[in-house]
Amino acid sequence: MLEQLKDLHTQALEELNKVENPRELELWRIRHLGKKGSLTKVLRSLAALPLEERRKKGAQANEIKKSLESSLEEKEKSLQEPLFTSPMHPQGLDVTLPGRPIPAGRLHPTTQILNEICDIFRNMGFQVVEGPDVEWDYYNFEALNIPQHHPARDMFATMWIDTGMGGKARLLRTHTSPMQIRLMEKERPPIRTIVPGRIYRYEATDSTHESIFYQVEGLAVDKGITMGDLKGTLFDFCHCLFGEERKVRFRCDYFPFVEPGVEVAIGCSACQGAGCRLCSHSGWLEILGAGMVHPDVLARVNIDPKIYSGFAFGLGVERIAMLRYGIDHIRLFYSNDLRFLKQF
Ligand code: DAH
Repeated sequence: MLEQLKDLHTQALEELNKVENPRELELWRIRHLGKKGSLTKVLRSLAALPLEERRKKGAQANEIKKSLESSLEEKEKSLQEPLFTSPMHPQGLDVTLPGRPIPAGRLHPTTQILNEICDIFRNMGFQVVEGPDVEWDYYNFEALNIPQHHPARDMFATMWIDTGMGGKARLLRTHTSPMQIRLMEKERPPIRTIVPGRIYRYEATDSTHESIFYQVEGLAVDKGITMGDLKGTLFDFCHCLFGEERKVRFRCDYFPFVEPGVEVAIGCSACQGAGCRLCSHSGWLEILGAGMVHPDVLARVNIDPKIYSGFAFGLGVERIAMLRYGIDHIRLFYSNDLRFLKQF
């Protein structure tokens, strides 16, 4: 019987250890110390024993009872302690404190401005398509009126992939203009499309030049498209992006695949036209090249230049982002520095 008492004691303590809440504790109490509990049963059975034995076992049973009662009390106390305690917060955690913010990602400033540019043109009825980064010499140069040995090739320091003869050579596109040809080969007018994309130049980098950057190409071809359409579209674009008040200037420029060609500039944001370092003291910031699609380019893709005409433009995305956000070094776009990126 002494063994039985000991087992009963250890089992009851083991069970108590597993108790996790007041409800379980009450069930434990009933099971072991209640009127029909295991210990009470033993105490009752003592009555049948001879006196000497009854005394000995009775004393032990009472001791076990006391020990279980005090363990019960302790457990009761520990269950009342705050639920969220830790060695660092022995008095409990304040669960009403605001949580730690989870750092959220965001779009890169280049992507943000690219999306904005695409939205402006989409609202004007342009569709958005993309083209390949690896391009044939034919599309990047020849079909755009820049045959081999043409001096205009000097405008584009090229990263060559292989140097097959003439139009068979492959390169990393130096501008998004080759997509003009691909679009016109596939589609018949009316065409109103813009092409955002990454381009590559084999050039030393400085504060305004990178060897990889983004351009957006634009092309509109239809019957009766004039220089007035080009100007109206690009005026609207500049005003959407830089505000209605911003001055916009068109000047003659040369690109082999357009005639006439223009350079578009906006009034300098830093000096309001007075002249400063940002605008090289001219008061103007050049933001894109454009022009009326050259008749030879149209003819090359079997679009009759006597019936159809079109305009095209190409703009540098990082340059526009730099002017919009007042960023003074193009490298920042590719440095992946969170202190920079978190500002946008
Ligand atoms: N592709 C030219 C460049 O990278 C920019 C350009 C100029 C695109 C005139 C055009 C255009 O479509 O008409 O410098």
